[in-house]
Amino acid sequence: MPIRKVGVVGCGLMGSGIAQVSAQAGFPTVVREVSPALLEKGMGAIKKFLQGGVDKGKLAAADMEKTLAHLTGTVRLEDLADCDLVIEAAVESLTLKKELFAELDKTCGPKTVLASNTSSLSITELATATQRPERFLGLHFFNPVPLMKLVEVVKTLATSAEAVSEASAWCRAIGKTVVTVGDSTGFVVNRLLVPYMLDAVRVYEQGLASRDDIDNAMKLGCGYPMGPLFLGDYVGLDTTYYIAQIMFDEFKEPRFAPPPLLKRMVLAGRHGRKTGRGFYDWSTNPPS
Ligand code: 3HC
Repeated sequence: MPIRKVGVVGCGLMGSGIAQVSAQAGFPTVVREVSPALLEKGMGAIKKFLQGGVDKGKLAAADMEKTLAHLTGTVRLEDLADCDLVIEAAVESLTLKKELFAELDKTCGPKTVLASNTSSLSITELATATQRPERFLGLHFFNPVPLMKLVEVVKTLATSAEAVSEASAWCRAIGKTVVTVGDSTGFVVNRLLVPYMLDAVRVYEQGLASRDDIDNAMKLGCGYPMGPLFLGDYVGLDTTYYIAQIMFDEFKEPRFAPPPLLKRMVLAGRHGRKTGRGFYDWSTNPPS
């Protein structure tokens, strides 16, 4: 059964990006937030990104209008009832996500594929909140969603081949490249990326090199678009810390253990771009 209508739960950084790319590809898309204020903020972010595309000459003004016409905002989960695919991109709380999926399981038709954009929680565990483990999977997008080409499609032992095939076809239809991975904490990208980012903090913490030298080393030595400390700020140091803790709990390997400096920066509210200060000062453009 092809995916025709899409629901997105959460219109934050990831949810707004997912809703945008879905609507941009022509899928009627309903995005749900918990309050009108958060919905307005998320919709505002989508409009700002689309307008940026128009200003850069990447998007025709008419296509911006078409995208917005495909997009509906709501604060009611019931408005996602007739969607063929619902992607949850709410905050990374296992309890909250399980509550949401239990409700979606009751609200949506039996054929609806339910998916989570979680970066580190177990898809298998989330699926236990529903009566449809065979139509439950992970769709892990990357930040910034409209520009990053990858989606990790995460299948559990229970996910059916049909659900993987339907969700993968939709990902391709919105212009993404799909990799299919098993349900293991961090999947493939974060399994490799997080220890690398943590090691960059350790190198900095040990005084081996300055912030700029670490970031330039990896940008110019390996051709990465951002250095690891800049990327930590960009993704959110709180998010990086949180994911690392979950991965450490799962694997008990020192390479996933968050370094003390990262913990202290998080405690001090230096979360990077989102709080204006991390390894970089984000009040300047470009960050300094
Ligand atoms: N609309 C349309 N196109 C836009 C646009 C917009 N609003 N804004 C930018 N673009 C286009 C630009 O025109 C440009 O296109 P071109 O390549 O054809 O010239 C392209 O997007 C890149 O934009 P910029 O030139 O403005 O910016 P950069 O070249 O600096 O690239 C970036 C920005 C894509 C974010 C790049 O720095 C990058 O790839 N960084 C790494 C990000 C990353 O690693 N993300 C993953 C994080 S981990 C994660 O998400 C997992 C989670 O679980 C934690």
